Parts: sequence; structure tokens; C-alpha cells
Amino acid sequence: MTQDTLRLGAFFYATGHHVAGWRHPSSEADGGLNLERYVGWARRAEEAKFDLVFLEDGTGIRDSNLRSSERTARSAHFEPVTLLSALAAVTSRIGLVATTSTSFNEPYNVARRFASLDHLSGGRAGWNLVTSTTDAEAANFGNDQIARHTDRYERAEEFVDVVLGLWNTWDDGAVIIDRASGQFSKQDGFRPLNHRGKHFEVRGPLNISRTPQGQPVLVQAGSSGPGKDLAARTAEIVFTANQTLAEAVEFYGDLKERMARFGRARDDLKVMPGLFPVVGRTEAEARAKFEALQDLIDPVVGLALLERMVGGFDLSGHDPDGPVPELPEAEGAKSRQQLMFDLARREGLTLRQLYLRIAGARGHSQIVGTPAQIADEMEERFRAKGADGFNIMPATLPGGLDDFIALVLPELRRRGLFRSEYEGRTLRDHLGSRPPARVASAPASPTQA
Ligand SMILES: Cc1cc2nc3c(=O)[nH]c(=O)nc-3n(C[C@H](O)[C@H](O)[C@H](O)COP(=O)(O)O)c2cc1C
Repeated sequence: MTQDTLRLGAFFYATGHHVAGWRHPSSEADGGLNLERYVGWARRAEEAKFDLVFLEDGTGIRDSNLRSSERTARSAHFEPVTLLSALAAVTSRIGLVATTSTSFNEPYNVARRFASLDHLSGGRAGWNLVTSTTDAEAANFGNDQIARHTDRYERAEEFVDVVLGLWNTWDDGAVIIDRASGQFSKQDGFRPLNHRGKHFEVRGPLNISRTPQGQPVLVQAGSSGPGKDLAARTAEIVFTANQTLAEAVEFYGDLKERMARFGRARDDLKVMPGLFPVVGRTEAEARAKFEALQDLIDPVVGLALLERMVGGFDLSGHDPDGPVPELPEAEGAKSRQQLMFDLARREGLTLRQLYLRIAGARGHSQIVGTPAQIADEMEERFRAKGADGFNIMPATLPGGLDDFIALVLPELRRRGLFRSEYEGRTLRDHLGSRPPARVASAPASPTQA
């Protein structure tokens, strides 16, 4: 795949990204806990030659108001690495990327889990590193509140170094399995890590050998200053949410410039913003599909989603038809909170209008239109250097995915923007990136946003 073509992720949120998608008669509403559904979606994405499937995750139900959680399909779903292990067995080419938090795990477990997935899948694993953002998740790990943003990223910097170090504790080809001599692995084929840092002490080595990709692909999804620094140093893919073309170009340029500080080439990292497409053969058809979903939004669920996006603040006391209130800076998802404020200001939205506006895409780019309109916007962002590809967010499953594959992909292929066949077998082959050389160690104190 050349650098002139798009990378595409199939970003699956069980039952679809639209918050009311599960209520739509066409959706597979039990998808969150139904393996057969996921098998069908993953196979469709692989037949369509997507680079990867991406499964997001939290370490708990993320709404602060549990009563609203009873009214969404988001409250019950598989743990994603377990699910990807099952999907590895029924797919052969598509990349398999899942979120795992650096705040609520230990690096040894994470290194081992993703190394396992890379072996199981023949070199298709990717780890989306997040620091987690909600108090609701912290409450499952003995804390009332999420740790401070700076502290979370400090831990994440050391966490990722330990994981990378553990993945490198085994040499390529160290397992020889020589029955005659009794030597299972090469002499000195693996070694301890002996990491002693502020947050972790890890002897190593890992109890799984070096993986088919050398190491799983590292993905990062934080967009604050510390998030961008971490990505610039270590990530091969960045997921982000942008609204306007100008924002996308600014983010992309900033991130790629930061890479130079860590001695990395710009092409070693692919920026893949989320894209929520609602496709119709005509604009009117697309609009009708979108409105049918919007009509199903439960106000309690819509408001709870917005509360999470602005940093977990209770908005129930505010007039839904009044302006979006001033709120303190979030300790959780700083970049997403800012995006919500910017969006409300730019489009002059009330509280209700804002939650309706983000009920599908949660702040990612949202396009309701024809295949040509969607392809135009993708091509524009790609050519303007605002994206190397996109993480496609179907509104409903399977319908939103099927529409994108049937209607938008042919248009992208006609423009020479997307592959018709896989060129390689591993996720890194699809990305067209080299296995990373040893990553530079973390700066003593991460740069502030
Ligand atoms: C495409 C995408 C996927 C994300 N997936 C997750 C996820 O699965 N779990 C999670 O806790 N946060 C997820 N995030 C949120 C980010 O990890 C991060 O917390 C958020 O963007 C705020 O980053 P910041 O604190 O660096 O500003 C995702 C963000 C994006 C753009």
C-alpha cells in the first residue's frame, strides 16, 4: 500500500455508534454479547480489505448516572482482547486493535496479553493505549476519582516503556525446540528487563516469545499535549476526533512535528481520525436515515453521553434549551471537553442541541450524504494533510457498515484511494510501516499541554 492511499479502520461499537442505534429495527441490538454478530461484522470488514478492526473499551460502565445506563446498549459488552482472540480464529488478514488502559492495569499483564494476541493472529495485533478518563472507572479500582491528567500520562510514559522493554526481552528466532539436545530456546535468547522506575518494578523476561510482528502495533488515542507527546514518541497509529478541516490539519502537523524530537520519521505514524458516515444514494435518503436515528434518542441517555464528553459534570440542573454552561477544566478527557465547547460555540448550540449533535459521532467528524460527498470530504482531509486514513464509525450494525462498503468504498477505489486486495499479512504490512527501532526513552517530565 503506498503512502498515497488511505488506511481504514472498522471501529465497532456494539450495536453501532449512534447512541440510539440499538433501538433501530435494522440493528443487531444484542451485538454487545453475541460472538456471531462480531464474527459477521469482522468478516465483512475483512472482505472489504479494511486495515483493522478497532474495539474501544472502558474499565467499567462510564456513565456517572447508572439509571441512564439502563437505557443504553453500552452497559453490557465483551472485554475486547478476549473478543479479538476469538475473532483471530475466524479471520486471517485484518488487523485486530483493542483498547487497554494504562491506569488500571500492570504493564506485565498488558505486554503478555497483546503478545499472545499477536501470536494467535499471526501478526495482526495492536494495542490502543488510553489513560482512561472517568471517575466511574476509577471507582472500580479503589479510587473515588480518576488520577490527575499529568499523573496519568506520567504513568503511561513509564508503562509503555516497560511494555516495549518486555516485548524486546526475547530475540527473534529464540525458540528452537531441539529435542535431541534438550535445548528449547537458544542460549541467551531471552533476558530479564530489570526495570526499576517511579511506578513499576519489573524483572521480566516475558513468558512468551517475540511476536510475529516483532512487537504488536502501538496505537494512541489521547489528543492533549501530553497525549501527543506520548504518541509522537511511541505510537504507530493515532486515533483522534476532529471537527473542521483546519483543526485536522493543525493536529496532524503538530503531531508529526513532535515526532522529529524523538528522532522519528513522519511516515512512521498514521493519523486516523474517526469518521461517522450516514450514507444514502441521495442526500435526502441519507438525511432520512439519520433523522430516523435521531428520533430514537432518549433525552436521559443523550444528556448522560454529553456529561461524559464534557468531563463527567452533572448537567441535569441546567435548562436544556439554554446555553452550554461554563464548566471547570476536565481532569479526564481534556481534548474532548474542549472540542465540545468549540462545537457548541461555533454552531451556537443549546445544551439539548449539543447532545443531539454528538449522539452519533461523539465529536468525531459526521457526514450525512451521498457516497461522493463522503468521499470528497475524506479525500480533501487526506490531500490537505489532515489525515492518513480514517476510523470508520458505522451508525448502526450491520447496516451502517454495509452501506459504507457497498456505496463509499467503490467511490474511493474509483479515485485510487483505497486497496482492492491486501498486499501483506500483518497489520504492519497493511500500514506500510517498518517495525520500529528501539523507542527513545521518556523525557524526565512530559511536556505540558
Ligand atoms: C478514536 C478514539 C478512540 C478512543 N477510545 C477510547 C477507549 O476505548 N477508551 C477510553 O477510555 N478512551 C478512549 N478514547 C479517549 C482517549 O483515550 C483520550 O482519553 C481522550 O481523547 C482525551 O485525551 P486527552 O486526555 O489526551 O485530551 C478514544 C479517543 C479516540 C479519538
